[in-house]
Amino acid sequence: MARFGALLCFLSVLISQGLPSPLAGKEVWDYVEVRPGAHMFWWLYYADSPSAKYQDLPLVMWLQGGPGGSGSGFGNFEEIGPLNRDLEPRKTSWVQAASVLFVDNPVGTGFSYTEQPNGFATNVSTVASDMLVLLKHFFTQIPEFQSMPFYIFSESYGGKMAAAISLELSKAVAKGSVKCNFAGVALGDSWISPLDSVMTWGPYLYTTSLLDNNGLADVNSAAENVKQAVEQQQFLKATELWSVTETVVEQNTNGVNFYNILTQQPDEKVTTATGENFISLQAHRHIRPLHKQSLNELMNGPIRKKLAIIPQNVTWGGQAEDVFSNMAGDFMRPVVDIVDQLLTAGVNVTVYNGQLDLIVDTMGQELWVKQLKWEGLPGFSQLRWTPLDDPASPGTTGAFFKTYKNFAFYWILKAGHMIPSDQGAMALQMLKMITQQD
Ligand SMILES: *[C@@H]1O[C@H](CO)[C@@H](O)[C@H](O)[C@H]1NC(C)=O
Ligand SMILES: *[C@@H]1O[C@H](CO)[C@@H](O)[C@H](O)[C@H]1NC(C)=O
Ligand SMILES: *[C@@H]1O[C@H](CO)[C@@H](O)[C@H](O)[C@H]1NC(C)=O
Repeated sequence: MARFGALLCFLSVLISQGLPSPLAGKEVWDYVEVRPGAHMFWWLYYADSPSAKYQDLPLVMWLQGGPGGSGSGFGNFEEIGPLNRDLEPRKTSWVQAASVLFVDNPVGTGFSYTEQPNGFATNVSTVASDMLVLLKHFFTQIPEFQSMPFYIFSESYGGKMAAAISLELSKAVAKGSVKCNFAGVALGDSWISPLDSVMTWGPYLYTTSLLDNNGLADVNSAAENVKQAVEQQQFLKATELWSVTETVVEQNTNGVNFYNILTQQPDEKVTTATGENFISLQAHRHIRPLHKQSLNELMNGPIRKKLAIIPQNVTWGGQAEDVFSNMAGDFMRPVVDIVDQLLTAGVNVTVYNGQLDLIVDTMGQELWVKQLKWEGLPGFSQLRWTPLDDPASPGTTGAFFKTYKNFAFYWILKAGHMIPSDQGAMALQMLKMITQQD
């Protein structure tokens, strides 16, 4: 706690030294030891709005995907933070509408680290219990945030973690063991039902001219193998077959970008790998894009210097691949039942998805939503959607949305997997709507 207090003073010193500071507003950061030897890093930006005090705005926690992608790095500098990767102000920063808390989770992600190789989480239960320790510390350390509406926003694998964390958090709040005003969870392009994603890749690519009938047959047949493994509860094998299916997609689409079908993979083509190598192949495909060289240099250069609490032998992103490989046996497990429990418990749940995302395509999201046992589902399904004007291009449709009882769905147009990067203005407006400011 003493260190925390010192950080606030430290910040003003940094500003006077001329390191770009995003705001007149405050920012603070710290580590929490969530298990012995397992340290999680968080970074909070206080809301900085021209029209409201931060005390009157919500608190949003952002969870990145991977697992192994860093919110403090990618989410912050590439998506929603006050500064972009070149440390210039971002016009569509979420800090305009909320205080934003980035947490590098699971342990080993970003600046978070474990001292022992057995310190990594291997399932979402551990991911959730670790986060509960962190949140308990956070709301105790900065009690003024206890009463502000608290939302969890997420992307990709972050959504799977967000669902599990939200369920544990709602229980903890009910018991009084965590003091906060939990107001809802938003699942962006989220890995809630991995099989529904994989099974729709073929049809989605075929209808968008990215597969011919031969390619469609190949992709569907690879996806069927994933389905069998999932049905037999062979989840590590399913992860391996998911990797094989991605290779089949790459081969038949001349390397479509899994994060946006209108682009091609930026990296050199990766070669087929099976057996043990599939983990490093998948890390290459899905962890490396979140650790581009320029971001790596920023985080391990000026940012770690500014933060001044990162241990000398901890590298931002240094344990990212271990995070992924330790979760590989859990990766293909669905969490649709957890979303169901959240809805039944009355938690506000929003799903938002980018039209051009392949890895978590909207067709797959529609499929798992239809599997919900939630009693509101028939009412939700009957409702017509509402178009939303694109704030970046008035007069054109930027999204559709639908909300029924405590469930909402946003279809974000012209966006891929990373919605705030692709459609920043639309994402900001959605944030305001979900947090009831619009
Ligand atoms: C960093 O070094 C310290 C002291 O040698 C050691 O205890 C710790 O485990 C190391 N941390 C990591 C992440 O390697
Ligand atoms: C999750 O992992 C922990 C640590 O390995 C283990 O003790 C626990 O039983 C696992 N939980 C589930 C639900 O698999
Ligand atoms: C859930 O959202 C509705 C608006 O759609 C709002 O009236 C309600 O207060 C929210 N519930 C919680 C727990 O914040």
